[in-house]
Amino acid sequence: MNYPAEAISEKAEAAARAYFQKNLLDWHAGHSRPMPWKGERDPYKVWLSEIILQQTRVEQGLPYFEKFVAAYPTVERLAAAPLDAVLKLWEGLGYYSRARNMHATALHIATERGGRFPDTYAGLRALKGVGDYTAAAIASFAFDLPYAVLDGNVYRVLARFFGIDTPTDTPAARKQFAGLAQQLLDPARSGACNQAIMDFGATQCTPQQPACVPCPLRPHCAAFHSNRVPLLPRRSKTPEKRQRFFAYAVFYHRGMVWVGQRHDKDIWQNLYEFPRLDLPEAPADTASLPPLLLAKFFPAGPPEGTVLRGISNTYRQTLSHRIVNAVFCEFDLPDSIEVADFQENKLEMFRQIEQFKLKKILAIPRIIDWFWRGKDVTLKLN
Ligand code: ADE
Repeated sequence: MNYPAEAISEKAEAAARAYFQKNLLDWHAGHSRPMPWKGERDPYKVWLSEIILQQTRVEQGLPYFEKFVAAYPTVERLAAAPLDAVLKLWEGLGYYSRARNMHATALHIATERGGRFPDTYAGLRALKGVGDYTAAAIASFAFDLPYAVLDGNVYRVLARFFGIDTPTDTPAARKQFAGLAQQLLDPARSGACNQAIMDFGATQCTPQQPACVPCPLRPHCAAFHSNRVPLLPRRSKTPEKRQRFFAYAVFYHRGMVWVGQRHDKDIWQNLYEFPRLDLPEAPADTASLPPLLLAKFFPAGPPEGTVLRGISNTYRQTLSHRIVNAVFCEFDLPDSIEVADFQENKLEMFRQIEQFKLKKILAIPRIIDWFWRGKDVTLKLN
């Protein structure tokens, strides 16, 4: 027996929901992944874990949760930390606006709410960086409030089990799935229900190669019985990612390098990077980049004795909406010159930092980290 959503009676629908709810909770009881935030009631720690887990896998987020709780055990401690320190601890997790919003929210809670988190869905939802999903998660985990979470995992599990083929990237789908998820939530066990569906989607009903053979919901899974597991959930369109092309100038001078902080409303806001040239398209030949970089940063010509150390391969990082391509051109500026002597240069907006400290102190994008691996020693072999 399966349950094509449109065709069954209300009674059968109710039976399907009851079956789903019971079997999901039973599954969770036997497959609970140990996670430090499970069973946590302190809204600060629940909030911290949920911000970290936005767009992040549990395995990746776990060490960050531990680091943040150790460094900032209370919301007041997080609020008192400098933003740069928070970004540094966040390094490697990506989507840095989360860290900036988190810090702003900590300040708000510490200074304007006496350190107390809101205990209603609307109050939580009004916090910076807290969307519908995160508000529902915190409301249910910390305050037992009956709000169902809805994210990609939930869409997938519900689309498959109930055989729903409404494209999930539409407002109609949001309404349909949110309503169903809410019906499936046992108000007396809202936290457990939310955690169960999150874990089920992440480990059992996965996007690729879901574990259908040992799945406890398989007997009544509509997608399984109609051979549509790989086809659900449906999307109406897949947005194409825009490409970005960066050329970086890595200027070495007496064991130091120049870096600047990104301020523009763009990717990697507040992170540090080398002096950068944005290219409109992929360079036909990367050998053309060093003169372009020198012309940008030394319009009157580079200091005499400047040597091109090398041009890297193209590094490529896929972000949520962008693909970033970066080439790094390394230059040795002569030891004999003083920084103050660089009259005609455009490096004033940048700062110098010891090579070996760059990675230790500043938060840098992952693509720069990949390039920088092994370069944070000041050995000079000549
Ligand atoms: N993803 C988002 N919140 C989560 C949680 N509490 N547990 C596991 N995965 C999650």
